[in-house]
Amino acid sequence: MSNICVIGTGYVGLVTGTCFADLGNKVVCLDIDENRIEKLKQGIMPIYEPGLEQLVAQNVRAGRLSFTTSYPEALKDAEFAFIAVGTPSGVDGEADLQYVRAVAEAIADHVDHPIIVVNKSTVPVGTGDWVADIIRKRRAGRPLQFSVVSNPEFLREGSAIHDFMNPDRVVLGSLDREAASKVAQLYLTLRCPILITDLRTAEMIKYASNAFLATRISFINEIATICEELGADVRQVAIGMGLDKRIGPAFLDAGLGWGGSCFPKDVKALAHMAVLHGSNPQLLQAVMEINRNMRRRVVMRLRKALGTLNEKVIGVLGLSFKPNTDDIREAPALELIHLMENEGALIRAYDPQAMENARPLLPKAILCASPYEVAEGADALVLATEWNEFKQLDFERIYHLMRNPLIMDGRNLWDPEHLRSLGFTYFGIGRAT
Ligand code: NAD
Ligand code: UGA
Repeated sequence: MSNICVIGTGYVGLVTGTCFADLGNKVVCLDIDENRIEKLKQGIMPIYEPGLEQLVAQNVRAGRLSFTTSYPEALKDAEFAFIAVGTPSGVDGEADLQYVRAVAEAIADHVDHPIIVVNKSTVPVGTGDWVADIIRKRRAGRPLQFSVVSNPEFLREGSAIHDFMNPDRVVLGSLDREAASKVAQLYLTLRCPILITDLRTAEMIKYASNAFLATRISFINEIATICEELGADVRQVAIGMGLDKRIGPAFLDAGLGWGGSCFPKDVKALAHMAVLHGSNPQLLQAVMEINRNMRRRVVMRLRKALGTLNEKVIGVLGLSFKPNTDDIREAPALELIHLMENEGALIRAYDPQAMENARPLLPKAILCASPYEVAEGADALVLATEWNEFKQLDFERIYHLMRNPLIMDGRNLWDPEHLRSLGFTYFGIGRAT
């Protein structure tokens, strides 16, 4: 059993803290957001993540998990301080490290015993050294015994607890092998490969992994666009490709492209790092451009089918950037809606979990209570996020509710034959029309 402090209670921090507590450690989760901590103390989750509320409650009851806004309290007995604060896109796509800096300074100010600082936030290569420098300088004359270990997180929103508990690998980067081995102990019960590298290599593994996954999606989306022109079906193409063990089946779902709080900012940040150090990241630029084009292309196809988007009523199903989360950061649905609104379209939309988060960003859209309300009077219905509850809709009912029975299946969720047999005009991504 170890004493752990997790700093930042967002998707990564809260899941990390809760899971470490569940593995038997004593964990204090800290955030500067008082409202968030107050709610967590009452058992109210600040985010929607399947299974989290129950796991938090269980571990709080067992006395292994607590929440605070006080750095001295959180760090008092901590052997490990995990940094899990945001690193959003800043100027020119560069990662904004202001929150990481603030945490490094707070650690320097409030720790008086040897500690291992573990960075879980996704940070530019070299940040671990920078964090160590900040702590060292702030403690000049009052030296602190500490090490910095990079421990990038690979969990996905929507399956975060499962991903944390069943990782494909744990990556630990440090110049201090002993510190990295101590962090490795925390993960031993998960029985997964643990790769220990130097700090910078671990930081790069995170960016390279996210950029590679984004590249796979952009690749299959480019193939999808070519399929549409040539009359092939990208879903079958992906299956055929994925059966090759060297390729594998995952992350080959063509659609509206990738969004979320990480791929967009991380690909941008990696490209920015490359340019800053004299490289020309042509592939990364193309990956981002293809992604933007997926949304533009859907708008173009709708405009072509309807003649104009001006004053057309477009129903949108799904607002979160992917199913099983209420996260709308860089959600393809929102970009799509804004593009259509710019052409005069009137939007009706529904999402099972993300309505509250999306409302302030969609002041012009009508937010509806169900997929059927969305379909009322619509000239086209667009599927933007493939939530389970959209899989089996009553399409006969939808057909009668719509003004014009046009479906744009932005995630290839539905059966074109079935929908066409009901009288719909069906468009998918990368499927013959
Ligand atoms: P988030 O925005 O959901 O949460 C960040 C939290 O940190 C907020 O609650 C904020 O109040 C808190 N915070 C900010 N400054 C603080 C400070 N000085 N002291 C204490 N708390 C502070 O962020 P997130 O989505 O959990 O991402 C965190 C990091 O993990 C990012 O670098 C991200 O790229 C990376 N990451 C995220 C995911 C994901 O699925 N969201 C997965 C892997 C890695
Ligand atoms: C992603 C990575 O998968 C995680 O490993 C990583 O830890 C995380 O980013 C991060 O660094 O934050 P996440 O953003 O939660 O996780 O979600 P993904 O399941 O990867 O989906 C990202 C986007 O790609 C979504 O918009 C999704 O719709 C899209 N996607 C995914 C596709 O369009 N096609 C696919 O085949 C897969």
